[in-house]
Amino acid sequence: MEQTSVRTHWSSRWAFMLVTIGSAVGLGNIWKFPFMTGTNGGSAFVLVYLACIAAIGVPLLMAESMLGRRGQSNPVGTMRSLADEAGASRAWQVIGLIGILGSVLILSFYSVVAGWVLDYTLRAVEGFQGMDKAALGAAFGDLLASPGRLILWHSLFMVLSAGVVLGGVTGGIERANKIMMPALFAILLVLLGYGAVAADLSAAFRFLFHFEPQAISGKVVLAAMGHAFFTLSLGMGAIITYGSYLGREVSIPRTSLVIAGADTLVALLAGLSIFSFVFAQGLEPAAGPGLILQTLPLAFAGMPGGHVIGVLFFVLVVFAAWTSAISLIEPATSWLVEHLGWSRRAAVLSLAGLIWLLGIAVALSFNAWEGFKIFGLGLFDLFDALTSKFLMPVAGLLIAVFTAWVMKREHVREEIGLSGGAFALWFTVVRYVSPVAILLIFLHVIGLLG
Ligand code: PFF
Repeated sequence: MEQTSVRTHWSSRWAFMLVTIGSAVGLGNIWKFPFMTGTNGGSAFVLVYLACIAAIGVPLLMAESMLGRRGQSNPVGTMRSLADEAGASRAWQVIGLIGILGSVLILSFYSVVAGWVLDYTLRAVEGFQGMDKAALGAAFGDLLASPGRLILWHSLFMVLSAGVVLGGVTGGIERANKIMMPALFAILLVLLGYGAVAADLSAAFRFLFHFEPQAISGKVVLAAMGHAFFTLSLGMGAIITYGSYLGREVSIPRTSLVIAGADTLVALLAGLSIFSFVFAQGLEPAAGPGLILQTLPLAFAGMPGGHVIGVLFFVLVVFAAWTSAISLIEPATSWLVEHLGWSRRAAVLSLAGLIWLLGIAVALSFNAWEGFKIFGLGLFDLFDALTSKFLMPVAGLLIAVFTAWVMKREHVREEIGLSGGAFALWFTVVRYVSPVAILLIFLHVIGLLG
């Protein structure tokens, strides 16, 4: 009896950590973090990003998991029952609805980028030998200029993602995750090692960690805060949904720290390796979204065993993107099923169909529809900015306010499983620090704070 309960405890804690790390670790860490660091001036961005992870990201990751476990439903249903429990307005359901809207927008461009990685997986099989930086730059340009290829790969990725959600999140994906995530980590270490010997790791280190507070600007701060939300999958209902599967015996604070730690470590490892090659090869750190695709193939072309390692790397990145994509479809699916009474099949197929169509528009924004801009942005940049720089922080702000101002403090304390000073610290951060930080950043960006 004793043994059974211990085993159950471990397996559920492990499963939650696994799927949540699967959601958190994705293109955000390996593709987006390096390119955003490059376009936002390096260390200034990294410094603010780390501060946002600590002051906003981890506390809200804990809050969202706690809301999910207490609400036991999809993001909209969870917010409704928690609002009822607190005697507050059901308008708080808007948190769940923002998440559903945001997930659809995110996946429509995320899937196109995952498509790039699929394309590069095939190229890695052929090998990058003999390609120099000019050839790689041209190759990425060719991909963007080709709507057919972009749409084909995006479609394949959507089929893969919808397929898993259709069957329910299977044991297979979880089991594969257990092997794939450590393998990705190991390959990043190999790349880092190779970067240290054959490229310029110390330049990468300076670029990421040189203390340069004067380079911090409003633009950098908003970008870094948005990225902290994106990389931890916050504000989109994913964590609330996964939290609803959490056993009562699991320590939310401890697992949240592990998840955020693993996520941050993967981003920093990816950043260090990529910039080692960027500086050694005289590439442009601010190259933008194509950065890793124009950089890492050079490393694979030069390193011993690079052919195999290159293929493995891209396969693992596809996998990391896949487990994140699942967490972007599952919350809206459960909402359609539980609230509107749709069958799981109808829900997944309609959602995936909608996202697929939007993704086609995103793919065309690189070529045929290049001239089509809203607020001066193409669809790809627009969906990215709208979600990371607006919807996610707004949802985060509302979650912080709901948790620390609307819910009964006793309920929060009981559910989060903290007591004494630790509870007081976390609660104070969620009550004051996180919401005030988000608000100040917004006010600054819209120009109200000079
Ligand atoms: N955290 C994922 C990444 O870094 O790639 C992206 C993501 C997944 C964002 C799920 C939001 C989400 F709900």
